[in-house]
Amino acid sequence: MYKVNDNYLKLPGSYLFSTIAGKVTAFQAQNPDKNIIRLGIGDVTKPLTAPIIKSLHEGVDEMADAATFKGYAPDLGYSFLREIIAKEDYASRGAHIEADEIFVSDGAKSDSGNIQELFAVDNKIAVSDPVYPVYVDSNVMAGRTGTYDASTGCWSDVVYMPCTEENGFVADLPKERADIIYLCFPNNPTGAAITKDQLQRWVDYANEHGSVIIYDAAYEAYISEPDLPHTIYECEGARTCAIEIRSFSKNAGFTGVRLGFTVIPKDLRCGDASLHDMWARRHGTKYNGAPYIIQKAGAACYTPEGKKSLKELVGSYMKNADAILKGLQSMGYTAYGGVNAPYIWLKTPDGMTSWDFFDFLLEKANVVGTPGSGFGPHGEGYFRLTAFGTYENTLAALDRIKEL
Ligand SMILES: Cc1ncc(COP(=O)(O)O)c(C=O)c1O
Repeated sequence: MYKVNDNYLKLPGSYLFSTIAGKVTAFQAQNPDKNIIRLGIGDVTKPLTAPIIKSLHEGVDEMADAATFKGYAPDLGYSFLREIIAKEDYASRGAHIEADEIFVSDGAKSDSGNIQELFAVDNKIAVSDPVYPVYVDSNVMAGRTGTYDASTGCWSDVVYMPCTEENGFVADLPKERADIIYLCFPNNPTGAAITKDQLQRWVDYANEHGSVIIYDAAYEAYISEPDLPHTIYECEGARTCAIEIRSFSKNAGFTGVRLGFTVIPKDLRCGDASLHDMWARRHGTKYNGAPYIIQKAGAACYTPEGKKSLKELVGSYMKNADAILKGLQSMGYTAYGGVNAPYIWLKTPDGMTSWDFFDFLLEKANVVGTPGSGFGPHGEGYFRLTAFGTYENTLAALDRIKEL
């Protein structure tokens, strides 16, 4: 009899957003007349911008003509896209990244879940707590996390780095051994940003301790304050210790068309092994390239018209973020984030648990958010609202919360 990968069987419960969807569906079925406002999941609501749509149409027309038709994309990405990324996202910020160190993909979720394949099973991972669940779950599937303790919500072989009000939701350097360190800034779910000095300390730590940092910068476009690093490669020494993962989902609304990329510098080596070459080998074997049409649309994000349209897109979501943050604070809530990220991280009132507050908000205000405890034990007592709704719905949700 064949055997399954029983690491999958260790995963507790269902994926957070499936649990939320189940609760919301049940509530709607019982209350069909209620108009529910969803500020839970981090999906965008605005359409793709005009320069992107134009580029998509052009790509489709090219596919209709034998002279310009494209089949399989190069599995590491078209050079027209990799070159523009190297110039616009890295060289423009004084970071040295070559086009052939950029691996185009179908998004940051797959890359952040797959990247752990490069590492031996006995490496110790360290994650912020609370954290985007993919980092831990993908390591559970690989058998790297030990056993799960349902009473604490923790895995025995994972180093959890608490992100609290006291440390401004930026984890302190770990005291235990941590081989693979996942960092995400601007952060989902807390909305916190990291300063260049703080990030430099992580890079120095990783280089000193022989650790690798997996830096998820999916929300980079939301940084609004000056002097915050937009890429880890702005830090000295990051080329020898860091992998960066990026997405077109949040800056350009590509959640439904799918595009992202991962950067692995050639200087990132573990003994004789080049992580760059290993990832290239993996991509070549397991991935057949993001579609030409989508990569062409990705390149359109970097044209002057594209950049202008994305600035407006991100600006409109940040207007929501500002309204939520200030609105909640004026009602007496303690709330964070929302300045360099499309997430607001609020403290639940009156010591309610995150799930109690979820139910309360759904039932009394018909507003859906995400319980902080779903992102890790230190998320307990917090709640995440996203700025990805429409402006009208955002204001309506705030009015309803005010009435509570
Ligand atoms: C921190 C973080 N990384 C990655 C992703 C996924 O991005 P993508 O749509 O490119 O797969 C998300 C999506 O919510 C996210 O919050």
